[in-house]
Amino acid sequence: MKAVIIKAFGAPDGLSVVDLPKPDPGPTEVLIAVEAIGVGGVDALIRNGSLAGWGFTEGLVPGSEVAGTVVSVGHDVDESWIGRRVWGFTGLGGGYAEHATADIDDVVPLPDELSAVDAVTLGSSGVVAHFALAHAHFEPGESVLVRGAAGSIGILTVQLAARGDASAVAVTTSSAERGEQLRKLGATHVLDRSGEGDAPPAYDVIIDIVAGPDLPKFFGKLKPNGRLVVVGVVGGQPPADFGTTLMAAFRNSLTFSTFSADTVPVEQRRTVRADQFAAAARGELPLVVHEQLPLDDVVLAHRKIDAGEVFGRIVLIP
Ligand SMILES: NC(=O)c1ccc[n+]([C@@H]2O[C@H](COP(=O)([O-])OP(=O)(O)OC[C@H]3O[C@@H](n4cnc5c(N)ncnc54)[C@H](OP(=O)(O)O)[C@@H]3O)[C@@H](O)[C@H]2O)c1
Repeated sequence: MKAVIIKAFGAPDGLSVVDLPKPDPGPTEVLIAVEAIGVGGVDALIRNGSLAGWGFTEGLVPGSEVAGTVVSVGHDVDESWIGRRVWGFTGLGGGYAEHATADIDDVVPLPDELSAVDAVTLGSSGVVAHFALAHAHFEPGESVLVRGAAGSIGILTVQLAARGDASAVAVTTSSAERGEQLRKLGATHVLDRSGEGDAPPAYDVIIDIVAGPDLPKFFGKLKPNGRLVVVGVVGGQPPADFGTTLMAAFRNSLTFSTFSADTVPVEQRRTVRADQFAAAARGELPLVVHEQLPLDDVVLAHRKIDAGEVFGRIVLIP
């Protein structure tokens, strides 16, 4: 089968399209004939080697989210899965391929009305957005700022905060055009990346996909009892002494935390994912696909991510 490997960490042209044997599903896995592959910001971090310490190695087939049809199952999995259209999380890698395996716990059936492309636009990011807001104890009527809102996680966080009756949903983004697109999805105020703009001075909740050197500045945008949850690090690590700013605001009772969907029990992830797929199939959760590209154009897809061109999701089609 056709697949992509990370031949060498670094620039996008370290990715290579190769021929590999079709994988066999393990006892608790299914084998999926892939129709669509979601490409996220995290894939670029894995490819350039930033996450090498977390078990991502050269030679890996990257990609963690696919949608397609189950063609075979491991011996502990019910054979009735064969022939079903599903979304699947493939783990550390294995997604950029014509066939991919996923553990049955990480497989969710797709409603007939939901395309494979839409499924991989929503599947991972929607769950991260949902549980990040829950981790921040977001309540209706509270104000939210989404930092790094133009990516797939940010777009869904904006939509879920707006649907959750936030009193304001501010976003940071690099262009006025993106700001307008985000307003159509529920944003009420648009700030530049540094947090400047015509918007409320402080928020109950900040969902931060950026981190990086500016992180401490955003503690100053929390209301008393405000919560800032870091979900991603597309801007790099924060300064080592970032906690000093938090301690300086001691009397505001602020909360800082990280959030990873890995800590959400698998059953809760499956339930929320299935609910979100159903909502998207009913047209209640508009999905933003930046572009669909053939798997052969994987280098181009990653160049577009590195160039900061992508608003929403890039989807590869094998
Ligand atoms: N917590 C979890 O469970 C979980 C799960 C999956 C992934 N992740 C993490 O989420 C991140 C990827 O999320 P994503 O795919 O939604 O994001 P993304 O598309 O890579 O980036 C989001 C947006 O951030 C802005 N941005 C990029 N670099 C920036 C910088 N240096 N400073 C300020 N803004 C910057 C860009 O928008 P503008 O140009 O408009 O500003 C970009 O569109 C990764 O860090 C990944 O590890 C977390």
